[in-house]
Amino acid sequence: MTIPTVKAKLLEGKRGLIVGIANESSIAWGCARAFRAFGAELAVTYLNEKARPHVEPLARQLEAPIVLPLDVAVPGQMEAVFERIAQSWGELDFVIHSIAFAPRDTLAGRVTDAPLDGFLKTMEISCWSFIRMAQLAEPLMKRGGTLFTMTYYGSQMVVENYNIMGVAKAALESAVRYMAAELGPKGIRVHAISPGPLATRAASAIPEFDALLDKAKRKAPARELVAIDDVGAATAFLAHDAARLMTGQVLYIDGGYHIID
Ligand SMILES: NC(=O)c1ccc[n+]([C@@H]2O[C@H](COP(=O)([O-])OP(=O)(O)OC[C@H]3O[C@@H](n4cnc5c(N)ncnc54)[C@H](O)[C@@H]3O)[C@@H](O)[C@H]2O)c1
Repeated sequence: MTIPTVKAKLLEGKRGLIVGIANESSIAWGCARAFRAFGAELAVTYLNEKARPHVEPLARQLEAPIVLPLDVAVPGQMEAVFERIAQSWGELDFVIHSIAFAPRDTLAGRVTDAPLDGFLKTMEISCWSFIRMAQLAEPLMKRGGTLFTMTYYGSQMVVENYNIMGVAKAALESAVRYMAAELGPKGIRVHAISPGPLATRAASAIPEFDALLDKAKRKAPARELVAIDDVGAATAFLAHDAARLMTGQVLYIDGGYHIID
């Protein structure tokens, strides 16, 4: 897919960091395409050397001037990314945190049985990393800005097989509200985006994911599955000044699924 051309460059002059592109199916890629199409300039990260050849061609399509490694569990890497942004840009308008991870055995097991190490790793990568990113972004958001993270309905309701990730997403959504309250006076807005199920690599770790897709299509008022471009366009709107008085929300992009019993 190439970047769509959008005439209205609504995000022209804005610069942001996108974390979580693994491949062309990634939600972060849908966001990156939309933000770029609306005129934003992007810094992009890749997980490690194995991921690099998959992410670099996408970063080229985005004409990203900053492309760096970032494994949030490697000490110093997140700091290095923000240092580079400070040197190159001196400021930042938005961050998109689109990453999550749980050790396979912890994810597959009952929450009741979660081992401490699996629980902590899940929380570190899926929740704490967003808090730390916000802390590093704050001094660069001199004119205000928007921080986004990705969540899922399994934070609110017991979704079969979502298990420990539901616990991490509940904490993440709560962190969004606290940080929105704390950073709001500086003009920094914080949102969690809650897409309906999408067939990505992260989703393939969830057993019986196809059943979740079928149910979403059947039950959502829109009777349609969400695509990464839908998530991208709606997220881009929230980064625009038109949404400047919206903050601290969990915004569902799920065809209305969450309103149905
Ligand atoms: N796919 C869905 O159905 C769905 C629905 C709602 C929310 N989400 C959320 O969307 C986000 C993106 O997932 P996706 O579905 O696009 O899958 P994806 O596999 O394309 O993206 C997940 C990303 O997390 C990154 N990641 C994992 N561990 C990391 C670490 N230690 N440091 C840095 N990056 C790391 C991976 O490199 C990858 O880029 C996740 O937070 C996920 O929970 C997904």
